Amino acid sequence: MSELLNPQLINLLACPDCNGNLETIAGQLQCTNCKKKYEIRNGIPCLYPSSIDEDHLQEEESLADMMKRTPDNKKDQFSLAQWDESKKEFWGMVKNNVEGNNKAFINIGCGYDFNYIVHEKEGSIFVNFDLVCKMLNFLKNEHGAKSCVAGDINKLPFKKASFDYVISIDVIHHESDNLESLIKSFADLLKSGGTLFLEDPNAWGIFQAPKSILLPKPLYQFTRSIYHKIKLSSHKPADYEFPTNVWKIKDILKNMGFSDIMVYPNNSYPCIASKAFQLYNLFSGIEYIKKYHSYHYMISAIKKYN
Ligand SMILES: C[S@@+](CC[C@H](N)C(=O)[O-])C[C@H]1O[C@@H](n2cnc3c(N)ncnc32)[C@H](O)[C@@H]1O
Ligand SMILES: [Zn+2]
Repeated sequence: MSELLNPQLINLLACPDCNGNLETIAGQLQCTNCKKKYEIRNGIPCLYPSSIDEDHLQEEESLADMMKRTPDNKKDQFSLAQWDESKKEFWGMVKNNVEGNNKAFINIGCGYDFNYIVHEKEGSIFVNFDLVCKMLNFLKNEHGAKSCVAGDINKLPFKKASFDYVISIDVIHHESDNLESLIKSFADLLKSGGTLFLEDPNAWGIFQAPKSILLPKPLYQFTRSIYHKIKLSSHKPADYEFPTNVWKIKDILKNMGFSDIMVYPNNSYPCIASKAFQLYNLFSGIEYIKKYHSYHYMISAIKKYN
């Protein structure tokens, strides 16, 4: 049986195919414009567009299983606990920038991230949005997340200008060929004066740049794939993933009229060889290197007022 959805959440939703309003009819959501129906599973609206890429969905589902496994197995280089630790800096940046209670947040490509709790407790509505439904089920069933929505970042199923804060951690490099339109769609979700918070692997990262900036992209992708095959990596990047260029992201935001664009280094990053990390720490004594050549970078930017 489907649960009743919070009306505040329904108000934020839109049809991913035509952006029409949605209404609840007989335990489902239906677009008032194109009449497409959407399931609500375990209280989670499943707002997948007709154009959903099933192969991509399956790939992300298996990555979700990998993220969830406990790292007893030495072959598993990925540790969810380490990952959570590394994100404390990001959520600290968010906390420092958020003003007031009763706001509307969305975490796009939220995965297993349960940092929504802090903001839900302060009376805000916090939408956890991801392609993979089982991650959202985990947040809802095991952590009590109130607002979870499944869908595709390429067709965001939300009304424009609905959110005070749009957050996306380690996701935009999944759409590295499509960055401008992706960031535009994030910007569209923000109210004027709202803040966008992004975090992503840095193409200009100190040991990353010679590969991601100097090598032609197809050649880098090919050598990277061979490397991970030989290494039998459990967390190998998919071909469509590519670290993003922090300067380009800054330019995209500037051209879209964002103001107060702040770039911060993300100092902690798990799953990296300790020798490389020691060297990085040595170089990052230089402020400029630390800010623009960290492994991951974080950005906050404010959407202009209309
Ligand atoms: C590297 S994980 C980051 C997860 C989370 N933000 C975190 O910091 O732990 C990327 C996330 O993006 C989601 N994702 C990938 N492609 C997506 C798409 N097309 N639409 C929505 N979510 C997507 C994945 O399911 C996954 O949860
Ligand atoms: Zn529609």
